[in-house]
Amino acid sequence: MIPDPNCHLCGLCAGRTNIVLPDGDPSSGIILVGEAPGENEDLEGRPFVGRSGKILDGMMSQAGFGRRDVLITNTVKCRPPSNRDPTAEEMAACRPFLDSELEGASLVVGLGKSACRDLLGYEGPMAAIANRMTEISINGRKIRFLPTYHPAATIYNKATRAELVKTMETVARELKK
Ligand code: URA
Repeated sequence: MIPDPNCHLCGLCAGRTNIVLPDGDPSSGIILVGEAPGENEDLEGRPFVGRSGKILDGMMSQAGFGRRDVLITNTVKCRPPSNRDPTAEEMAACRPFLDSELEGASLVVGLGKSACRDLLGYEGPMAAIANRMTEISINGRKIRFLPTYHPAATIYNKATRAELVKTMETVARELKK
């Protein structure tokens, strides 16, 4: 299920250039969920192609896999103005599309606060949940959920960077199963 090209389900349509759909392998079973498209993603129509994407690509490559091996998506498919966090209403409007992407997954990785807010209803610090495997329920089916830091939160912080590296190593092990 993908949004209509003229989707008006929330106000983010007002500022978008492109709806940013998932990238990678829809049959992989492993899905990385980011926050929202930024400027580069909005212009190109692909998730994680800007600065955060370069960090993510580097970490995936270091762990021995690439974006073709997983599916990469976001809580909302359109860029919020000035890259602000997506609101609860915007995430709710886009949620049916996200749910249809997650259906059938064996592992969902939540990259940062917005993904964890949307999928876990979690509002606390990432340090308390990063790399602690839990579960979410998507359309009545339980799926393993691994919360972790957003790539942008690792730029000037060795500890969060080490946690995201660890997450990517977990994903690499999952891909070998
Ligand atoms: N940050 C995100 O969360 N998603 C993107 O697609 C790009 C940057």
